[in-house]
Amino acid sequence: MQNTLELMLAGQASRLRSTLLGFAAAAALVATATAQKFEGLALSPPMGWNSWNTFESNINEQLVIDTAEEMKANGMLDAGYEYIVIDDTWALRERDADGNLVPDPEKFPSGMKALADKLHAMGFKFGIYGDAGKTTCAGYPGSQGHEYQDARTFASWGIDYLKYDWCATGTRDAKEAYTTMRDALYAAGRPIVFSICEWGDNDPWLWAQDIGHLWRISGDIYDCWDCEFKWSRGFKAILDGYHESKPSSSGRDGLGQYAGPGGWNDADMLEVGNPGLTLAESRSHFTLWAMISSPLMAGNDMRVVTPEIVDILTNKDIIALNQDPDGVAGWRIFTAPEKYEIWVKPLHDGDWAVTVLNTSETAEEVKVEWERMEQTFPDEYTIRDLWADKDLGDTHKPLEVSIPSHDVLTVRLSKK
Ligand code: GLA
Repeated sequence: MQNTLELMLAGQASRLRSTLLGFAAAAALVATATAQKFEGLALSPPMGWNSWNTFESNINEQLVIDTAEEMKANGMLDAGYEYIVIDDTWALRERDADGNLVPDPEKFPSGMKALADKLHAMGFKFGIYGDAGKTTCAGYPGSQGHEYQDARTFASWGIDYLKYDWCATGTRDAKEAYTTMRDALYAAGRPIVFSICEWGDNDPWLWAQDIGHLWRISGDIYDCWDCEFKWSRGFKAILDGYHESKPSSSGRDGLGQYAGPGGWNDADMLEVGNPGLTLAESRSHFTLWAMISSPLMAGNDMRVVTPEIVDILTNKDIIALNQDPDGVAGWRIFTAPEKYEIWVKPLHDGDWAVTVLNTSETAEEVKVEWERMEQTFPDEYTIRDLWADKDLGDTHKPLEVSIPSHDVLTVRLSKK
């Protein structure tokens, strides 16, 4: 009898324990449900257009619509460029009496909801810009202390992508600040790609995977091969920063290992087609961003884009390298200083992309000796030139090519 009672009591205690554990598990679930980034977004590097590189503060509703119309007509939307993002300077300098951000009515007379509806109807997604500090980099209101309110505003407008900058943040902790906005976006309930833009200052590749979908790895890009303008650098310097150690931090060697579906190293928006780059440089810049799995956010004036630049931006074989489902970022395997570099990227189907970048001021005769890269390419492969769209034999013998200054040869190797 006593045994039975003891058993019953023990049974009740254990049921109570399971119920309590159940509550605890449910509470933990709720807690995680309100504290995560939106999953299932940016499974390949985001593609689109951003206003900053060409227009800075000269943005308005008509420019955005003209850009979208041109990108639909010239094949960019079909090629995958889906996010149209307006950068800094879209808002008024002051919030309204209730603390809401207000779109500048001169620049955006129809308001953001109407613009989002229009872009959505055309087949695009719509992105906007904010800042984790008191003000944006151009001095407009930042979201510090208004994160949940601003996230609700963005969701109510139908925003799909938020680039979130790092100016005027004082002593804020970057991980904490970006986590707050991540949680605010999640609480607002609309799936929004979260683009972290703290310029790589706090090594986001070490902590941002659960917070954002992409994170900048450098200061701003400029439309030149290799120059300095205030805090901006040419694309070659940014590419080198991707691979070289940053003295004050844990280092950038092997940055590619931190990227993958849902979380990408962002080497900044493209300068392809902008005046400071030759056609060869635009092609190289585009190819290398594809090789390292960086987002492909065009930054040129679509209203005056030339057919040659559209051909670069819509090269489906190069885009396929960038959008490969495995999302493995490429790496530099060989450097002949001031002559050329060889970059490689493994692809889902067992193929490899190989890019030779001519870094010299003159044409280079390059001999690619496959047997010297035997550890990477143990098999025999056929070679397809992706820019010239032609077959170049196989890896049985070295590939000898002449590459113009600052241009690339990009091939896809397929196992024989
Ligand atoms: C920072 C960012 C740029 C751009 C400007 C806008 O410099 O890194 O990409 O958004 O701010 O002010």
